[in-house]
Amino acid sequence: MAESVLRTEHIVKALHGAFCRDAERRELLQIAASSIRKAGEPFTSVYLYMLDPAGAVLELEAFDGRETEHTRIPLGRGLCGRAVAEGRNLNVPDVAREPDYLACNLDTRSELIVLVRRHDQILGQIDVDSDAPAGFSQADEAALQEVADALASLL
Ligand code: SME
Repeated sequence: MAESVLRTEHIVKALHGAFCRDAERRELLQIAASSIRKAGEPFTSVYLYMLDPAGAVLELEAFDGRETEHTRIPLGRGLCGRAVAEGRNLNVPDVAREPDYLACNLDTRSELIVLVRRHDQILGQIDVDSDAPAGFSQADEAALQEVADALASLL
């Protein structure tokens, strides 16, 4: 499998370093979002959606890239809500072919959603948009999962 451009060792080290100096939740999420986007294509925009206390709505808690009006997404709505409702990651090569896709701009072509889970509990997700069609590889998903797992252990 070809390697991802995501250097997860640097991102995980930055998250642990921030945790050790008592960084707030929001700072940890922002470090993840900005570090992932810094990798460049295919990571065009990165959104950290976390489940609300009732476990019914995904709330946008950090992002780096294009703004979005989708700041609260009910479970089951959109690709983000579907990933949580079905309890699985989604690697969507062509968002235009997904009837439930929630668009936040006209340039996104593909999307990767990786769940942030602690044991069996879903805490939220890392949602990445790409302007590249079929932008994300299995290696990208595996790398993003490493970052999601590090977040789950620190939040
Ligand atoms: N596209 C997502 C919504 C989030 S925006 O991409 C930031 C969806 O279909 O759920």
